[in-house]
This record gives sequence, structure tokens and C-alpha cells, in this order.
Amino acid sequence: MSKTPTIAAIDIGTGVVKAIIVQKQPEETGFKVLGRAESISAGVRKGVVADPERVSKIIQSTLEEAKKEAGQEADEVYANINGMHIFCLSSKGLISVSRADQEIAQEDVDRVIEAAKTFSLPPNKEILEIFPREFIIDREKGIKNPIGLHGVRLETEIVVVGGFVSYSRNISQAILNSNLQVNDLILGPIATARAVLTNQEKELGVVVIDFGAGTTAISVYEEGDLLHASVLPVGANNIRNDIAIGLKVDIETAEFIKNKFGESILGEKSTKKEKLKLSTGEEISFQKSELRKIAEPRIGEIFEEVEKELKKISRNRLLPAGIVLTGGGAKTPHLVDFARKKLGLPCRLGVPRRFFPLEEDTSYSTLCGLVLSGMDLEEEEGGKLNFKGFFSGIKKLFRVFVP
Ligand SMILES: Nc1ncnc2c1ncn2[C@@H]1O[C@H](COP(=O)(O)OP(=O)(O)OP(=O)(O)O)[C@@H](O)[C@H]1O
Ligand SMILES: [Mg+2]
Repeated sequence: MSKTPTIAAIDIGTGVVKAIIVQKQPEETGFKVLGRAESISAGVRKGVVADPERVSKIIQSTLEEAKKEAGQEADEVYANINGMHIFCLSSKGLISVSRADQEIAQEDVDRVIEAAKTFSLPPNKEILEIFPREFIIDREKGIKNPIGLHGVRLETEIVVVGGFVSYSRNISQAILNSNLQVNDLILGPIATARAVLTNQEKELGVVVIDFGAGTTAISVYEEGDLLHASVLPVGANNIRNDIAIGLKVDIETAEFIKNKFGESILGEKSTKKEKLKLSTGEEISFQKSELRKIAEPRIGEIFEEVEKELKKISRNRLLPAGIVLTGGGAKTPHLVDFARKKLGLPCRLGVPRRFFPLEEDTSYSTLCGLVLSGMDLEEEEGGKLNFKGFFSGIKKLFRVFVP
């Protein structure tokens, strides 16, 4: 019997760089995490690789550590591309079906998508990925797979996700410098959604909010496909920074206070005093209500920004499957309730199900989603999914080879 391949993923986060090596378990039971490692990130600013040299060293050592724990190499490696430069727009294309018998072939689909991609972008912006939403044959709307159907006029509507050329180059450079053979770069918000959403939620209409350290990434799905994606340049680091200023403590202490006394931020109001002895021996005290006064408005502001994004696509308060909240920042106690009230939608926590033993950890959603998205790509390449793979939404960004 041939060995089950091992898949590695690296999530280049603003706060934490994470790596896992997993193996698929028999009969669709899930994935066993053979090795995992985390490093404090450096050289990443709001999800963007700002210092490729520093980042390459961190991703190399983090993956090495995960490999050591796994006791084996990885057959496939996937990494994410993220950052506030990522933008999203929709576009339409129209062609005449080429065959005389008017049967639509793959070639027609390729042509209509090419037609939809002919819009002008400034030279410093590029398309990273396209997601077809629907095809229209002779004005008949809502067709997901037109191949084999008949018609004269074929139209499509696509969602385009793009980014700033220099930032995409930085991440490729970081990966090339690290001497790792990475199969593909996958869009972070799409990978996260892949790990946490059910097909039913995608069908009904849902927003994934990945509340990270430096960014809050959102992706909206409806009728099974991507409708919108955006990466906001705010995250849990902003709360930490506000605490540092408000309580006049250093950044490490602010981070500690934020996580240790998280209950006071959105939980029951209390005037109780907390005391904390710092590593320097100094003792500080603050009122729980003071912490709340500092942090709650900032969290409110972040969710107002999310609502603005939903307004852009007229889906504010209009997504039946609501919000799926994930990322390390989603560990803030009572955030699910806060989001539900603030955005007026149902809300649940998103965790990477079927990844043992990470299935309860919201900070691993992107990482596990990279594994799943990578597997989709492999299946697509192996031809097993063929056209369906095309619609899985994730296509090759580019292949990175060790020179
Ligand atoms: N128990 C906790 N309570 C509240 N916040 C937490 C907790 N544990 C971790 N966090 C926060 O989660 C954030 C890290 O989350 P995550 O690993 O998802 O971010 P990242 O992927 O590094 O960043 P980004 O996605 O923005 O690039 C940190 O800001 C950290 O403070
Ligand atoms: Mg992240």
C-alpha cells in the first residue's frame, strides 16, 4: 500500500507564524496533526510581508520545527498571501459560442472568463485570483456549469481578488529565500473560509471574520460562491496598543493584561480592582471598568468597519447564515455575543473541524484551511475534480520552485 502523503502549511501572520504537518486519516475521518510549531512573527506589517529576509528565516525555522516534531518531511507545502492591499471587484464578460452545434465547451468558458478579465488596473495592481459566480446562457441566469449546455450567447460574472504587485513580490521573495519548495500561495481569507464554513452556510449567505493580530480579514459567500473579500488593517494588536497607552504599561504587559483579564472587556461590568506584579518587580493596579473603557470602543470600531464592508455589497444585516468568527482575537470572551448585537446577525465561532488535536482552536483556522485548499488544488490537478475543481474557487496563484 502506498504511503498517505503528508501536507504542510505555513500561515504567515502579523502576530504569529504557524506551521503544521498533517496526514489525512482513512475514510474521511479528518486529519492527524503530526507536527506543529509557532514563532513570534517579525517583518510582517498588517498581514503584508514588509521585510522578506526576516520573514524567510522565520518561516524556514518554524517549518523545520514542525518537521522535527512530525519526524518526517512534507510532500506538499502551502503558504498564504494576506494583507490590507488585497482588493475585490466584480466584472462581466460576454462571447458568442464558437461551435456550430452551439454546444458550450471548456474553450468557450475560458474565453468568456478572459473577456471578463479585460478591465483596466493601475500598473501597480494585479489579479491574484478569479472566482466565477455564475454563467448566463442566452439570458438564462444562475448557471454554475455551462459545459455541455447549448446556446448562442455566453455571459459570466466573476469576482476578482487582486493585490499590490510589490507586496505579492515580497512574499514570493520570502519564500524563495527560505529554500522551501512551496507548491502554492493561497489567499488567506479564502483558506480561512475553507476551514470553517459548511456548504449550507456558503449557500445561504455568510460572512467569515478572521480577527487576527494586525488584520481583520472578511470573506462573504452566497449561493455557494465568493461574493466579497477584504482585509482591514486593524486587529487585536490595536486593542493591545490602546491598553499600553491607557494603562501606561509596556506592550508585553498590555498583551498579557488583554488576554488574562479578557473577561472584563466585554463581560459583566465591575468596579473591582486588579493587581498585577510585573517581571520587573513593580506592581500595577487598575480597575476592571478602566480596561473595558479602553478596549470596548476599539472592538466596536473594528466591527463598524466590518459593517461598512457589508454595506458596500448591500449585505449588512442580510446574511441568513450570519457571522462565523475566527482567528486568535476571537478568543476574547463574549465576542460572539458582542458581534451578534453589533452586526445584527447570528454568530458562531469558527474552528478547524476534523483537525486533531486543533479542532477547538480559532487561531488555526487559516492554517488548516491552507491544507484543505491545497488538497483541492491537487485533486484539480490530478483531474479528479476537473470542472468542479475550477469552481472550488482556488486556483494556482503561481508555482514557486527552488532555483
Ligand atoms: N485568549 C486570548 N484572548 C484574546 N485574544 C487572544 C487570545 N489569545 C490570542 N489572542 C490574540 O490573537 C491574536 C493572534 O491571532 P492570530 O494568530 O489569528 O493572528 P495572526 O494570524 O498572527 O495575524 P493576522 O491574521 O492579522 O496577520 C493576537 O493579537 C493575540 O493577542
Ligand atoms: Mg491570521
